[in-house]
Amino acid sequence: MRLDPDRFLTDLNTLRGIGATGNGVVRRAFDPADVTARLWLAAQFSEAGLDARIDAAGNVWGLGGPLLLGSHTDTQPEGGWLDGALGVIAALEVARGNPGVSVVSFQDEEGRFGATTGSEIWSGALTLETADKLTDLDGLPFGAARRALPATGAAPDPARFRAYLEHHIEQGPVLDAAGEAAGVVTAIVGLRQIEVTLTGRQNHAGTTPMHLRADAFRGLAEADRALRDTLAGLVTPASVWTIGHVALHPNAPSAVPGRARFTIQWRDAETDRLDRMEGAIRETLERVASRAGLGLDLSATAALPPVTMDATLRAALRDAAAAQVPGRWRDMPSGALHDATNVARLMPVAMLFSPLIGGISHDFGEDTAEADLVAGLRILADAAAGLTSRQGR
Ligand code: GLV
Ligand code: MN
Ligand code: MN
Repeated sequence: MRLDPDRFLTDLNTLRGIGATGNGVVRRAFDPADVTARLWLAAQFSEAGLDARIDAAGNVWGLGGPLLLGSHTDTQPEGGWLDGALGVIAALEVARGNPGVSVVSFQDEEGRFGATTGSEIWSGALTLETADKLTDLDGLPFGAARRALPATGAAPDPARFRAYLEHHIEQGPVLDAAGEAAGVVTAIVGLRQIEVTLTGRQNHAGTTPMHLRADAFRGLAEADRALRDTLAGLVTPASVWTIGHVALHPNAPSAVPGRARFTIQWRDAETDRLDRMEGAIRETLERVASRAGLGLDLSATAALPPVTMDATLRAALRDAAAAQVPGRWRDMPSGALHDATNVARLMPVAMLFSPLIGGISHDFGEDTAEADLVAGLRILADAAAGLTSRQGR
């Protein structure tokens, strides 16, 4: 069957309609929209002649040949319509015309419970038993959440696949600013994440003198400033760190905050630098907490290594990009995390990026021109065709 760009765009828009919120999408792993989307996807896989199944972790598989293509269909709390969805629907369209291809939508790439949880489980780096104890920010365990999507089959043996390609939006401004149509990924950054709890003394905001307070929010604010100073001497311009989730207790205007719970996440291309950043972050938090008279509790919630893309698979994507969008593509690193990081524990992987208007992602405003979506589909299909004919079907 020939590649059908209209069918690909129609499928992408159908998926966009499941959990649609304004211009964006909300499909948190295992919420009702995510479950509906995964059941819809399994039906599309079956219709395309693939052996469709949903494994115990919620990953949706469309099994065909030995080249695995895919990404994820869960979203951020305020997700864009393309983050993950693009790679899954492009993979489905390629599989319709290429019996050498299998397709997957991994579960919880966006880290409602862990970080890239579904692919981490499949890779063997995380057991289902351990994953079941991970909780979302409201305390719901992965083990309870996954009852919403019962397994219909076992996860496939990784040995049946020879390689993995993931097509994704860039999630940054580089391609769009340069007017380019594609990026071939060189490497994906590593990530670490910790959850921090600072405990002070909850008290009346009108009667507690300033010098007698143990204010957990003040500890958080001081930690943020101290981290900025400490990390400045350690990082490169490409290193990033983020306090992205904060919960204050009791979070009331007339109470001195007794507890601040927050995440610190940092990313870098070098494992050594991730280690040094971790040492500095832990030491800074200890210093700030002790100076402010606050209790400190730290727990590690995610750790993923930096990963280099496979040279042969990259070459297949580069050749296809040079043929489809000559002079309008580049090699580039990924600052975003992807399921490919975990799949790389099992087999060679590579990634293709499509541009993003204004570089806006993890936001309802995320969007890409249709012509660029289709160019990416053609590059993926070309690369897959080259690889599957070499592999033999
Ligand atoms: C995943 O989207 C990430 O980079 O956090
Ligand atoms: Mn994302
Ligand atoms: Mn993604």
